[in-house]
Formats: sequence, C-alpha cells, structure tokens
Amino acid sequence: MQASLSSAPDGHATLPSPLQRLHHPLLTRYGVELWCKRDDLIHPAISGNKWRKLKYHLLHAREHGKQHLLSFGGAYSNHIHALAAAGYQTGLRTTGIIRGEADAVSNTTLRDARRWGMDLVFVDRQSYRRRQDPDWLAQFDAPDTLIVPEGGSSPLAIPGVAELVGEVPFSPDLWVLPCASGGTLAGLIAGKRDREQILAIAVLKGGDFITDEVYRLHPAAASIPGWRIALDHHDGGYAKFSPALWQWVQNFSADTDLPLEPIYSGKAMWGLFRELAAGRIAPGSKIVFIHTGGMQGLAGLREQGRL
Ligand SMILES: Cc1ncc(COP(=O)(O)O)c(C=O)c1O
Repeated sequence: MQASLSSAPDGHATLPSPLQRLHHPLLTRYGVELWCKRDDLIHPAISGNKWRKLKYHLLHAREHGKQHLLSFGGAYSNHIHALAAAGYQTGLRTTGIIRGEADAVSNTTLRDARRWGMDLVFVDRQSYRRRQDPDWLAQFDAPDTLIVPEGGSSPLAIPGVAELVGEVPFSPDLWVLPCASGGTLAGLIAGKRDREQILAIAVLKGGDFITDEVYRLHPAAASIPGWRIALDHHDGGYAKFSPALWQWVQNFSADTDLPLEPIYSGKAMWGLFRELAAGRIAPGSKIVFIHTGGMQGLAGLREQGRL
C-alpha cells in the first residue's frame, strides 16, 4: 500500500512512525518511563490505527479484483474519513453508509470524504443498527465490492496492527492504547511478545463486550495472557468528556509537546495516569503509548462548539 499512497497528492506515508520520549514530572513521581508511538504521524489523512487496519483490506481488495470499498460510520467517523482518503489515493471507489440524516450532518469529516470521491448514503439509526446483519448487508453486496466493517475492525485488520510492534526498537513492559471496537487491541495482542503486557483503555461505557470482540477478531487471543481492558476511564461514555478531562489533556499536551484529542488519545492518556495514580502499574515500567490518530476529529468538536 505504501508505494501507491506515497505518490498521492495528499501526502507521503511515514513508516516506521516516530517514537517520542515523553518527559513529565508525574512520570518521575510514579517511577516509570513513557514513549509515544506516533502513529498519528503516519499519514496526513490516513492516520493512526486507520492506516494499520486498512492496509490489508486494501491489499485484499487488490488481490481479489475488488474496485469498490463500502463501510459504515457516524458523521464524524475517523474511519470513514481515512477510508475515503485511501480510496482516493489508490483509485478504488468508496461508499460510506452514514448514521443520520443528510441535512443534519454536513461537517468537515464528510466534506473531506465527498471531496475524495466517496458516495455517502445516509441511513436512520434503526437501519444502521443492522450493519452486521447479513440480510441487511446483502443489498450492498456486489462482486466488485469489499465490505469493510465499521471502524475497519475485521480479521484483516490484525496483521497490519501487529506490525507496529516490530517498529519499536526495544521490548516495552507495557503497551497502552485506547479501545472501542477492540480491533486495534486484537492486532496488538497478536503482535506482542510473550513477556509484554497491554493495558487497553475503553473510551466508551459498557465496554464488557470488547473482550468477546477481541476473541472474535483474533481467536488465539483467548490463550494469550498479559492484556486487560480498563473499563472505568470512559468519563461518561463514547465521545463524551468532562471539562476536567479536556483541561488535563491540554495541560499534558503543552507539557510534553504531544498533540492529543479528548475522544481517543487524550482519554486514554488520562486513563493511563489514573491507573498510575491508583498504583496499578509497576514502578520501573517502560511504557509505550500508541497514538492511534483521530486528530481530524478536533475540527468536528470545534464545529459543534464542544471545545
Ligand atoms: C483515533 C482512534 N483511536 C482508537 C480507536 C479505537 O480503535 P478500535 O475500534 O480498534 O478499538 C478508534 C476507532 O474506533 C479511533 O478512531
């Protein structure tokens, strides 16, 4: 994928993504070392876990003669944004099935997607709920179409995410990342070395389902120890965040020179420090935090007057 994308007008891919050492007084207090795997810098439009998750979908499409990628998302979806950019740059047609009414949702995310040639089909919430139902999906099926599940989380996402482990030049004691559908976590479980631990911060409320999702996406995960999902740092639920969280994120960003947004990367970083404060992470740990991208979401939050 890299070769075709790097010649694209919207930017070049940076791989391996940079690894940034973070310095902060709290890290000294808790006696840990922290690096950030800057996957947000992989590509200007296909950033973070989207690049990792889409890579093998795009290769699969090419190998199987698919000319059309179809997927699902909300009106501010990072995944829809990235898929549209990937289609634009690889010459594949794209369709986004968007939850909501066309009139109610016109924003930077969807304007970019349209600009990159994505067809947008708006469906009501009730229909959208059926996005995994084969009977409902049948209407979109065609020989030239690859249907990519919401968020890009399918077994094809696993190898792309697993590859990031080999890009870090040492073996961390702990990986930390945000999680929602569990696809990125499943890929990291597949790629990590036996001794390495993973702490996934659920960014949504009621994340008990994520473990089963991880098993569905990567069945071997059931017999791989060393990972856990922290469920109590959602701060109200998916895409919700308190003024206190956002203030903390902005302070941390300024102190460490690390751009963060409050829905995924910022919430997960906040969660990591709550785990440190609760004494749930061993002093002396070398921690790599994965920045899964999503910075384009900040424009949407500003448009909604939420920041
Ligand atoms: C920027 C960003 N980070 C993290 C996630 C969570 O990843 P996953 O759904 O694979 O758990 C998503 C998407 O859901 C995302 O857009």
